[in-house]
This record gives sequence, C-alpha cells and structure tokens, in this order.
Amino acid sequence: MLKAGFIGAGFVADFHRKALQAVRGVELAGILRRSNAEQLAASARSDGLGEAVLYDSIADLCQAVDVVCVFCPNFSRVETFEAIRDAVKAGAELKGLICEKPLARNVAEADTVLRLADEIDVPVAYFENNLFMPPITGARAQLKSVEATMGPAHLSRTAEEHAGPFITYWFWDPTLQGGGVWNDMGCHSIAVGMYMLTPDGNPPSYLEPVSVNAELSLLKWNKEPWAGTLRENGINFLEKPAEDYANVSIKFRDPQRETISVCQATNSWMFDASGLRLSMETFGPGYSYSCNSLNSPGEVFIGDKASASIEDSVLAVENAQSTRGRMVLQPNEPDLYGYVGEWRNAIGAFEKGENALLDLHYGRLITLITMAGYLSHEQKRTVDLTDPETLKTLSDYVPLIQQGRGAELLP
Ligand SMILES: NC(=O)c1ccc[n+]([C@@H]2O[C@H](COP(=O)([O-])OP(=O)(O)OC[C@H]3O[C@@H](n4cnc5c(N)ncnc54)[C@H](O)[C@@H]3O)[C@@H](O)[C@H]2O)c1
Repeated sequence: MLKAGFIGAGFVADFHRKALQAVRGVELAGILRRSNAEQLAASARSDGLGEAVLYDSIADLCQAVDVVCVFCPNFSRVETFEAIRDAVKAGAELKGLICEKPLARNVAEADTVLRLADEIDVPVAYFENNLFMPPITGARAQLKSVEATMGPAHLSRTAEEHAGPFITYWFWDPTLQGGGVWNDMGCHSIAVGMYMLTPDGNPPSYLEPVSVNAELSLLKWNKEPWAGTLRENGINFLEKPAEDYANVSIKFRDPQRETISVCQATNSWMFDASGLRLSMETFGPGYSYSCNSLNSPGEVFIGDKASASIEDSVLAVENAQSTRGRMVLQPNEPDLYGYVGEWRNAIGAFEKGENALLDLHYGRLITLITMAGYLSHEQKRTVDLTDPETLKTLSDYVPLIQQGRGAELLP
C-alpha cells in the first residue's frame, strides 16, 4: 500500500480524495497544512481513505509518505519542487511524484521544474485526467481494429468550457495562474485532442506538433455584472485582464506515415449552461466518436419554492450554474473526468518503479504548445513549431497576458 501525501488541499485535491475511493494500493497518509486541509483530512478519514495526518512542512510530509502530489496553485510549482528536492536530499525516500496540470506557467519555468525533477529522481506522473476519461478510452478500445484497418484519425475537436473559475484570487491573476482560459483549460484540450489523433499503440508524445494558430479574446468577464462580481471579491481583473475565450488550431505530423492531422481546441469561461462541459469529437477514415460530459442518465429538478433549501448545487455537477430548474446530475464525476484512471495508471507504474503513461516531459510539450498559442495571438500569425528559431523564442517567452499586460492585447 503506497502512502500518498497531498501538497494543496483545495478544489482539485478534494476531487482526488473522491477519486481515491475507487483506487487500490494507495492511502491518503498525509496533507500539507494549508487552507482547507482540516476539512479534506476529515473527509478522507470518514471515507476510510487513510490517516490523512497534517504536516506543517513539505520536508515533514515527504518523510512520512511514498508518493508526493503537487496539487497547489500554478505559481508555486518551482518553490514546491525545490522543497521536495531538499526533502529527498535530506533523506526522504519517495517512490513517486505526481504533478497536476499545468506543469508550469511557461516553458522556462517548465524546464526549471524538469531540472528539479531530475534531481529528485523518482518515478513521475503528469496528471492530465482527460486522457483517462472512460468515454474516450472506451471508444478507442472499441475502434482498435477499425483503426488498424482504416488508419488513424485526421481531425479532433476538443472543448472544455464552464462559466468561469471559482472566485479564487490566483486563478483570476494571469501573472499567478499563467494566463486565462487557454492556460487553465486549453492544456486539457491540447492533450486529449493530440491523444485522439495519436495512432493506436504509440506513446502520447508520438505526434510532432507542426504549427499553432490561435485567436484569443475577452468577451464576458470584462462586462457587468461579471467584472463587478470579481471587484466585490477584491479582484481587479480589468487591470490585468486575461482571455476568457480561445479558438486554437494545432497541426500535427505523424513521423512514420508522414501524414498531417489537426486538433481544433475551443475553450471558454462563458459557458452559461448547466455546468462544466467536456466535449470531444474525433473523425477518422470511415469512423468517428464523440463525448459530451453533460449527457447523463441522471437529472434533478428543483422548483422555485424549494430552491431556498438547496445546500450546494455543485454537488450535482462541477461548476453548476443554477440552483433550481432541471439540472444535470453526474453520478460519478471523478471517474467520468478521468481522475480515477490517472490514479490507477500512476499507482500501477510506481509499484513497478516506473513513470506513469504521462511524464513531466509530456507536460513540458503541452506547455510549449500552450505558449505557442499565446505567441500566435500576440503576433497574429501561425507559429511554426518546426522552426528552430521559433523554438528558441518559446524557450524563454512569457506572454504579455502572463506579464499582466493583457490590456494591450484584449479583447
Ligand atoms: N485536472 C483538473 O481538471 C484540475 C482542476 C482544477 C485545478 N487543477 C490544478 O490543480 C492545481 C490546484 O488548483 P485548485 O483549484 O485546487 O486550487 P485551490 O486554490 O482550490 O487550492 C490550492 C491549495 O493549495 C494551497 N496552497 C496555496 N499556496 C501554496 C503554496 N505556495 N504551497 C503549497 N500549497 C499552497 C492552498 O492553501 C489550497 O489548499 C492547479 O495547478 C490547477 O491548475 C486541475
């Protein structure tokens, strides 16, 4: 039984706590004492997931666990990896390291994280849940022999959308988060879009990214009442605005077949509908498959008179937007979104002393494509990822939006 320790006890950590109910071979042994850690620990204990002891430092947490999980905000990646490195140098014997998406806010930061990971030198997992969504893995399994006969897919369309992140200060500050919706949710859409195009039997970074063409905009969160809601919560988004809409086309090359495929990724924070929607479509020669995470066998209805007594509409589905009327109810979100699958994959790999399916170099590739999207929008051109000069530019490129200068570009 591997002992997991969480660094970060917020929204995503709680999702992982729920996912662990369906994962064998791991217990939630420790949590770094930060906001929400007590509640998370209490839930974990009452679920029988482990002792969930609270630790005051990353050093102490690493001494007590086998697998350390980086579930803290994007801006804290480097300091967190440094603290894990120091703990390992001081004798902590880790068997695995998990890092949530995104690996970093930009490529230079990703390279620093990779260097620190080399020093830590334990098996790793980059957590990108979308690749493990049962509707996607199930469709690929179902189509395995069809793909073998007809050939791999040529077009994927991926969209991850909701009405806007929870009011957490760092999500709404592009200097801390790394950008707007493209950095926050585009990373999912790039990853799963690339996966759906990858010929069966090849590693997840098999396809070579050729070019990226992006259109970003700020369409909703600069308007009232949305901007006012942020202001009331002490967030002056309009001083350092970020994109809430992204429409990005990524071209890939198959190095063996020498064919081209395209992923169209669309992300927004203006999906004023039932709640979070993950939507994917893939088209191959003579076949296709699709997924809409809001399709569910479950729904609830809450009338006007009863709505005052609702406790938490987000219990029905992530980012639920209303507390009444007809609501989609997803009975098992951690499984549907792929959290359970990514845990099973990581724990299975760590037990063998190996990296998970997605490693941190894969995470860097996703960061590179994300940054190419920002560069494309800034320079109003298609970014050529086969050009060594462009790759050099991207290696230390910090998008204007990430610098807090989004007002120069948006809407
Ligand atoms: N896979 C997904 O779909 C998904 C969904 C949400 C968030 N995420 C990722 O998970 C990470 C956390 O996001 P969240 O929504 O849980 O954030 P959050 O703000 O809800 O929680 C962050 C947690 O980290 C703690 N924390 C803050 N600063 C810290 C620091 N310097 N060192 C250690 N801990 C610190 C906070 O106290 C809190 O417990 C982000 O990288 C985000 O991109 C992934």
